[in-house]
Amino acid sequence: MIRTFREDRVRRTTVLRVALLGALALVLVVPAAGYGGQAKKAAPQASCQLQVFSWWTGGGEAAGLTKLIKIWNKGNPSCQFKNETVAGGAGSNAKAVLAQRLSAHKPPDSFQGHAGAELRDYIKAGQVEPIDFIYKQYGFNKVMPKTLLNQIKYNGHLYSVPVNIHRANMLWYNPKVLKDAGITKVPTTWTEFIAALDKAKADNVIPLSLGEQWTQKHLLETVMIATIGPTRWAALWKKGGSANWSSPGVTLALNRYKTLLTYTNSDASALTWQEAGKLVADGKAAFNVMGDWQDGYFSGSKAGDNLALKPGTDYGWAAVPGTAGVYDWLSDSFTLPKGAPHRAAAVKWLAFLGSKKAQDTFNPVKGSIPARQDANPKLYGTYLKWALKQWKTDKLAGSLTHGVVASNAWNAAVDTALGLFLQSKDVAKLQTALVAAAKKNA
Ligand code: GAL
Repeated sequence: MIRTFREDRVRRTTVLRVALLGALALVLVVPAAGYGGQAKKAAPQASCQLQVFSWWTGGGEAAGLTKLIKIWNKGNPSCQFKNETVAGGAGSNAKAVLAQRLSAHKPPDSFQGHAGAELRDYIKAGQVEPIDFIYKQYGFNKVMPKTLLNQIKYNGHLYSVPVNIHRANMLWYNPKVLKDAGITKVPTTWTEFIAALDKAKADNVIPLSLGEQWTQKHLLETVMIATIGPTRWAALWKKGGSANWSSPGVTLALNRYKTLLTYTNSDASALTWQEAGKLVADGKAAFNVMGDWQDGYFSGSKAGDNLALKPGTDYGWAAVPGTAGVYDWLSDSFTLPKGAPHRAAAVKWLAFLGSKKAQDTFNPVKGSIPARQDANPKLYGTYLKWALKQWKTDKLAGSLTHGVVASNAWNAAVDTALGLFLQSKDVAKLQTALVAAAKKNA
């Protein structure tokens, strides 16, 4: 069962009180057995708590995290989980809060960071510890793909444990809405996409539902990948790649993006990704572009705030038109911050996250495929079974919005440029700002 934020707060306070009372009565010893390589050395800790920072507060994200918390708390009665989530999809609020905590030297025991450039920000700033010893002890490098490990490595050392792999370039749709609007084929090309959006418009539904600004950047990245392809996409993020940003391919992509915005709901900036997705689920919109956490939200059990829809019947999916065979990927990983208040517990948490049990418990609910390659596909739903196959054959493109290709600073520069564009709709200005952002940050 997913609790409301208020219930959660009350519960956390109660858990904290119980833990403090317990600490008065006995000296707590972190168990030596289990996942934590460092646990043997740990000194007895009064009021141990595992403070984990993420932005998973709704949909399949919260449901998946709740499952992990249950297992953790059962196995660690003397060091209960303290859920330090900050609401806001894609970490839109959480990352700023985290930055403040880290600069004030008040880190949690572990925090969520995307594999790739985003994680490298924390590494370069000296805010996280290398955790090669965990990989060595549990053999994680043998069960996780090299591509992924390369994105969490810096100067030969590993810095986080990835829990999953997500796909950003997904088109979600309502089959009944498409049928009613006379859209007989799910679009696979730009021309087909526009034709389908026109049909939806003529049928008086929202052709393409959209949410707050980070989801607008998410849409932009998928249109860019569709237009210029994964190779030229990768070149945009390389050192000295700023010239690529002024190419005609990027101009075309930005113009296409501008066109797409004319098919979206006018209240986009006020909607979360779930609210934008729900417009499709409720039959008020035909399409939505979002990462595959949308599958967790759509198909997840109603015990939380998920919709319990039937995959394939109540909703359908395809790659964003023009991106079939491309996996615009990202990965959620967790770190060991320097100065983690309960380091031994944090090490144990990271070892747990990399385990098959944790990954096969979390991901079917979250709407992501596991980072481990030895997961059991039978445990995954219809969409994820499909995604597991696609991951093996598709070309890879790293996500912008979710930290793979660009640092937090570069992302912030794109956010500013995009924010201005959403007001002015001036493509030339947007492109100039993107060139400047690349010059400064590549
Ligand atoms: C992404 C994150 C996903 C999902 C999504 C929406 O950045 O990697 O796990 O949570 O944001 O919040």
